[in-house]
Amino acid sequence: MNSAAIQQLVDHASGRFAHAGQFAYHYARGKLGHDTLFHEIVRTGLLGDAGRVLDLGSGQGSLFAWLLSARELADAGQWPAEWPQPERHTQLQGIELMARDVERARRAFGTDHPVVCIEQGDMTEVALGRPDAITILDALHYVDPARQRALLGRIRDALPRGGVFLTRIGDADAGWRFHVCNGVDRAVTYARGHRLPRLYCRGLADWRGELEHLGFAVEHRDMNGRKPFANVMLHCRVR
Ligand SMILES: C[S@@+](CC[C@H](N)C(=O)[O-])C[C@H]1O[C@@H](n2cnc3c(N)ncnc32)[C@H](O)[C@@H]1O
Repeated sequence: MNSAAIQQLVDHASGRFAHAGQFAYHYARGKLGHDTLFHEIVRTGLLGDAGRVLDLGSGQGSLFAWLLSARELADAGQWPAEWPQPERHTQLQGIELMARDVERARRAFGTDHPVVCIEQGDMTEVALGRPDAITILDALHYVDPARQRALLGRIRDALPRGGVFLTRIGDADAGWRFHVCNGVDRAVTYARGHRLPRLYCRGLADWRGELEHLGFAVEHRDMNGRKPFANVMLHCRVR
């Protein structure tokens, strides 16, 4: 891990939220600075060469700030030689349920950004279009299993062959680590100004089985940094 490069990217990407309010700025700094999934996305190129990315449950758009900053730093010649060159994205579209997050995104990216568009909507209802990659980071467990299944099927249909679906779930079969993870998730959601939500979690084998059945080749990796959580990243590629 090149921690100086990560820190530079955190500073650059979170700077986009400087005018979006104290909460937006500090949330972005904390998220991008400490969440190893974001680090892995740039360090190992988890989204491949996807020009058009759809992020469901995007929150304020921290992922998009991260991806844009990666390309900008690479253009400025400030990119580690050992990392893959970041993609020059043509479309970064987010769908987010909560108006407050969408408003933070609008303040950060503006309303006429050439690449980024974050709209208020329910990911289980909106049309998914034809993106090259779809991400759902820590948001699938907010919807019930029937709607999860319907959404995963639509995600599979929306992606081209070789397209990537990147998600992170809490492994409900991971015992006490899952309960710690679940408690923190509820507390953070509450702190972000939402009601305490009901969460619908499933075990890793269940998630993997369903995604493979849909036609994805699935790889999974623990994605907790140094915390004792049960977060698992699922990297799914359409076979
Ligand atoms: C834990 S946050 C993660 C936000 C973002 N993915 C990130 O990594 O910073 C989960 C987000 O999913 C959103 N969400 C929950 N259910 C949703 C739905 N049905 N449609 C769209 N967004 C949803 C929540 O409002 C919240 O912003």
